[in-house]
Amino acid sequence: MSKITSSTLRTFKNEGKKFTALTAYDASFANAFDSEGVDVLLVGDSMGMVLQGHNDTLPVTVDDIAYHTRCVSRGIKRALLIADMPFMSYATPEQTMTNATTLMQAGASMVKVEGGHWLLESVKMLTERGIPVCAHLGLTPQSVHVFGGFKIQGRGADNAQRILDEAKALEAAGAQLLVVECIPVELAKTITEALTIPVIGIGAGAVTDGQILVMHDVLGISSGYIPRFSKNYLKQTGEIRSAVRAYIDEVAQGVFPAEEHTFN
Ligand code: KIV
Ligand code: NA
Repeated sequence: MSKITSSTLRTFKNEGKKFTALTAYDASFANAFDSEGVDVLLVGDSMGMVLQGHNDTLPVTVDDIAYHTRCVSRGIKRALLIADMPFMSYATPEQTMTNATTLMQAGASMVKVEGGHWLLESVKMLTERGIPVCAHLGLTPQSVHVFGGFKIQGRGADNAQRILDEAKALEAAGAQLLVVECIPVELAKTITEALTIPVIGIGAGAVTDGQILVMHDVLGISSGYIPRFSKNYLKQTGEIRSAVRAYIDEVAQGVFPAEEHTFN
């Protein structure tokens, strides 16, 4: 059982093997997800909502992410561990370096940042100094107040073209992975085909190289609103490890996400 790295994921992409990612915040769930075969674990700033009970991800701090990254890293053997850079922790080059270093030293193998053109310098700087970067485009939740709500992004030719251009520029700047969130499936397909690096989708249809979901949605324990693009796998399996296996199998077979989880 060899460790998953960004080059493993690139091989999966080239072989057309769909891979699976989940969020994780503690050692026990991380261990269960890792041992069932989830390829990528993300210590997401979604913790602001699912762990801390906030309405958005903005209150999450670098210390919060670092603490949960340490917890998750103790629980896993195989999965690639990505840590989210939280809101305003990468606004300047100095902050970006210091905070990304903290998360790598907490046990992450890659950091994730939300945004397009303005981030190119940071992506290049981090990569050149030894910190691999996962980019994140589309519905980037740290910008929820700019978007005016959690709304699908990339509708209309101009918006779609801008996101495609940003995806290509981020890859050129050195990003090794890209998450696309809540964009039309046609755009997700164009981006996935245009990039050499693996693209992981959430609310972006079955066309991306990998899929990611928030663990609380997969286990049906998110309070309040459950996104339309998500799926409660505990409901159909009744057991956490079986739920995770069902998610992995459905992604591998192209069964999830289905039409009902996808935006056109
Ligand atoms: O914070 C998070 O959980 C995320 C994923 C939904 C991609 O960024
Ligand atoms: Na996030």
